[in-house]
Amino acid sequence: MNKTGVIFDLDGVIVDTAKYHFLAWKNLADSLGFEFTEAHNELLKGVSRVRSLEILLDIGDATVSEEKKQEFLISKNEEYLKYITKMGADEILSGASELLDALDDLGIQYVLGSASKNAPLILKQVGLYNRFLGIVDGNSVSQAKPDPEVFLIGAKKLNLKPENCIVFEDAIAGVEAANRANMTSIGIGDKKTLSGADYNFNNLTEISADFIKDLIEKLENNKEQ
Ligand code: BG6
Ligand code: MG
Repeated sequence: MNKTGVIFDLDGVIVDTAKYHFLAWKNLADSLGFEFTEAHNELLKGVSRVRSLEILLDIGDATVSEEKKQEFLISKNEEYLKYITKMGADEILSGASELLDALDDLGIQYVLGSASKNAPLILKQVGLYNRFLGIVDGNSVSQAKPDPEVFLIGAKKLNLKPENCIVFEDAIAGVEAANRANMTSIGIGDKKTLSGADYNFNNLTEISADFIKDLIEKLENNKEQ
């Protein structure tokens, strides 16, 4: 049996959907009459859909009823779906397929741990759905990242203790969730932004099979002590 497993965030690690979230949120902001920039969009990375709307409304200094919020969540997602239903395998980020291949070769199992309720659809669109042992998404959790719940459920799916799990994340909230879960966090993206991660890489192409092998060996040796 495997002693180590991997949990992948989806958006920003395996696919770049931030640009589609941006277009859909911007559409809402436009209709409400305020500006929503790419810099604002950064604040929504890794954050749940509901929390994203709250942040967006704060940016526009807009106060709306609970009913309107529900309407906005639906219309934003309908707009977002228009983009993601057009996605294909060409939108898998560089290095992701190679990393999954390397894990397969090493016999290391992996699951998805994403805040997105659209995660299964996106994985199917890009043809990676069947490669994951399990999917934990925004529908499976009651607490959003930085709460560790999504990754702790992932560890259960892997049948491993949290300390035996490695997490790949591109968002500050996700790195914090992995650390709070007592897992090894690997930050993908800007090193300064993700300074809380145990390891940092700009993107998945920088991760070699040797790095993974060494990390797994290190974790397994620690366990035996
Ligand atoms: C995360 C994204 O993966 O999913 C966030 O980084 C997004 O930006 C969140 O808000 C929820 O996504 P969805 O698809 O459920 O609206
Ligand atoms: Mg992400």
